[in-house]
Amino acid sequence: MEFNIALLPGDHVGPEITAQAVKVVDEVGRRFDHAFKWHEEAIGGAAIDKYGVPLPKEAVELCRKSDAILFGATGGPKWDSPGSKNRADITLLKLRKEFNLFANLRLMKVFPPLVNASPVKPEFVKGVDLIILRELIGGLYFGEPRGIEVCPDGKRGVNTMIYSQAEIERILRVGFELARQRSGKLLSVDKSNVLEVSVLWREIATQLAPEYPDIELRHMYVDTAAMELMSNPRRFDVVVMENTFGDILSDEAAVLCGSLGMVPSASFSGLPVGKVFGLYEPILHGGDRIKAGNDVNNPIGSILSGALMLRYSFGLNTEAAAIEGAVSRVVESYRTWDIMEEGKKQVGTREMGDLVAAEVLNAR
Ligand code: IPM
Ligand code: MG
Repeated sequence: MEFNIALLPGDHVGPEITAQAVKVVDEVGRRFDHAFKWHEEAIGGAAIDKYGVPLPKEAVELCRKSDAILFGATGGPKWDSPGSKNRADITLLKLRKEFNLFANLRLMKVFPPLVNASPVKPEFVKGVDLIILRELIGGLYFGEPRGIEVCPDGKRGVNTMIYSQAEIERILRVGFELARQRSGKLLSVDKSNVLEVSVLWREIATQLAPEYPDIELRHMYVDTAAMELMSNPRRFDVVVMENTFGDILSDEAAVLCGSLGMVPSASFSGLPVGKVFGLYEPILHGGDRIKAGNDVNNPIGSILSGALMLRYSFGLNTEAAAIEGAVSRVVESYRTWDIMEEGKKQVGTREMGDLVAAEVLNAR
């Protein structure tokens, strides 16, 4: 079978980690006899350098005619000055919006060899397998009015957390359906003791629940959820929340997996049933702590995003599992710096990609 993929490596750490995902997916292609056709475009900082704009129409058109998008990362410090019109992270938000990708699944599954790689004690981390379902194109990150205003007594910054009933309902429905595919439990996270948006969110969740009598719906405040994620993470399965809460809690939950660099994500404009168009990206982006271009960054989040693409957009379940199995076997012995432990061999970005690609051949 032939699949067309829009490849958007982005800027900063994007190109180096994405190259490893491409390598691994191509190895799957050879092993299982599929043709993956990659079509690359610049986006984010790379597109600012090439076209003068962060989201060029060339990239959008390419995505439109592709079966899926594999995205790298954005937000490198070179383009990331606060307030700049070219801020590369704005690109990603626009791209998500352009394709109505409101449902973002962030899979936090702890690989058994990595239970000691997290700063959280292994007895807490062992067996963690949860999904942060993040609403991706609404709320505070998109709400109007927004801006910095000059007032008589000084400047003032404004953002608006706004959600319509329809926006809340559609993401919650994805949550209920995902819960149905998993343990039958859905946790809805909000801040309804303070925010009206959350009061409405909880009200709608409660109203929908009778339509899903097989699903056990619970609610939790976001601050409690932040604490429970560290102190009792195994209680979580499918956890649904609005955009900002999801952004923050997903980085926190990634700590359970060993590192932000381990976590893949998939974004859809509905429930992923059958073969659906989606955008796949690791949750590792720019940021101060992360150095780019040194062949040190962990490419596994990108590689696993490739696996999600095979599963959800191409219906290639065995192939996706082959990648996940390969990653699990490789990290028994080899680690990038962020998940390094005594007795393991430290490798760089490219070598990690090579090792996983080679291991794909041993898939059963
Ligand atoms: C993420 C990132 C992005 C977001 C940034 C880069 C805009 O942090 O995917 O979580 O906030 O959504
Ligand atoms: Mg984030």
